[in-house]
Amino acid sequence: MAGNVVVLGIQWGDEGKGKIVDLLTESARAVVRFQGGHNAGHTLVIGGVKTVLHLVPSGILRPEVRCFVGNGVVVAPDALLAEINELELAGIDARSRIFVSPACPVILPSHVALDQARERARGSNAIGTTGRGIGPAYEDKAARRGLRMGELLDLPACTSHVLELVEYHNFLLRKLLNSDALDAAAVVAQCQMWGEALSPMIVDVASELERILKAGEAVLFEGAQGTLLDIDHGTYPFVTSSNTTAGAAASGSGVGPLTLSRVVGVVKAYTTRVGSGPFPTELFDSVGDHLASKGHELGATTGRPRRCGWFDAVAARRACWLNSVNSLCVTKLDVLDGVPQVQICTGYRLDGALLETPPVDSRALSRCEPVYEVMPGWEQPTAGAKRLSDLPTAARCYLERLATLLEAPLDIVSTGPDRQDTIVLRNPFGQ
Ligand code: GDP
Ligand code: IMO
Ligand code: MG
Repeated sequence: MAGNVVVLGIQWGDEGKGKIVDLLTESARAVVRFQGGHNAGHTLVIGGVKTVLHLVPSGILRPEVRCFVGNGVVVAPDALLAEINELELAGIDARSRIFVSPACPVILPSHVALDQARERARGSNAIGTTGRGIGPAYEDKAARRGLRMGELLDLPACTSHVLELVEYHNFLLRKLLNSDALDAAAVVAQCQMWGEALSPMIVDVASELERILKAGEAVLFEGAQGTLLDIDHGTYPFVTSSNTTAGAAASGSGVGPLTLSRVVGVVKAYTTRVGSGPFPTELFDSVGDHLASKGHELGATTGRPRRCGWFDAVAARRACWLNSVNSLCVTKLDVLDGVPQVQICTGYRLDGALLETPPVDSRALSRCEPVYEVMPGWEQPTAGAKRLSDLPTAARCYLERLATLLEAPLDIVSTGPDRQDTIVLRNPFGQ
């Protein structure tokens, strides 16, 4: 039986997961998104042509791969339809290869309004969400009042559910958040349109996956966001509203945990973060500016500048064991080309003590001072390298040090945005 692989982010998102998922789906028959929603922005570059995906799994550019949106994903039907249209305009047959679980919570326009109104109300304590309604949709799921994709197919039941839900949202918007209410009838009309447009794509994803797995075909589980944004294990409350860690690959798609044989942890060779929250290795100097400009560190979803800093091995090591990472992928090595000295955070200093594991509490984390190990940089470019032997010695030493600190084998190195700018030392699918 072929192995099944989870690919997920080990930092605060934007590690280059999309590129790696696209690359590895050459060995898979199906790709499954299992959490998050269109807060994600996954960039694929093939032969210089760039595609940014949000809700559609990053296997879509491979015609033989089926793309599943599992029950753990919150779905904004309008965003999904817009993304499908865009792909089809680019000549990609998307509609016939995307399958959405009827158990996915629906993101309604009133979730978006609530997300944005809450952020405004938080003022300087805002989380810096993507404003896509992600948090409110997950809240409704946990409160057992949310609308699910399957309900869009039963118009009478859907109508009364939506009217009730939007009435509740309007109460919160008006009375609590001093914001405008939405026209509930207009939301019902949208739901009707979404149900008609999406009905062929709504299928029991768990059953489909069971069939694919029984046939011995390989499945890739695509994470969104990153481990440090996990609702339980991340820098709470500056996190997203889902579990971004490997356990969610099973619960968010409807497969058993023993299905997952390999967990690829994707890390950038440095660290970035979008939105608020503690970031011990953040840089405010010319090196930070270099990482931001050479790495084109602008959010793929919101276009916001990403905060940049040195590699944080303390946070990443914890993230690796939280996920059972047994395969490491380092991306954006080329962005460090020409930096005279590279630094890795190997400990935190907090109230005079040296910590090797990050504190669970975000307030304590925000008081941590990074302790750095300094390594020589490299002048020769790594950009576009396709073999380990093409890399300068200092770059290889840096990679080896990261793998040692994270206690995981280095399997993939990415040296540029394009699919082909990659060094594969071992294929996580074992082929
Ligand atoms: P994701 O959310 O984890 O899929 O990552 P994003 O797509 O949001 O951000 C990663 C960015 O880095 C994208 O613009 C990619 O095209 C780009 N990228 C990925 N790998 C590399 C790499 O090895 N080198 C460089 N220079 N860019 C890369
Ligand atoms: P990908 O999959 C980076 C961040 C937001 C904010 C926090 C909560 O491209 O790596 P949300 O809208 O989820 O309620 O926002 O999470 N965030 C991301 N940061 N990459 C992402 O996705 C992100 N998705 C959410 O910036 O700080
Ligand atoms: Mg991204």
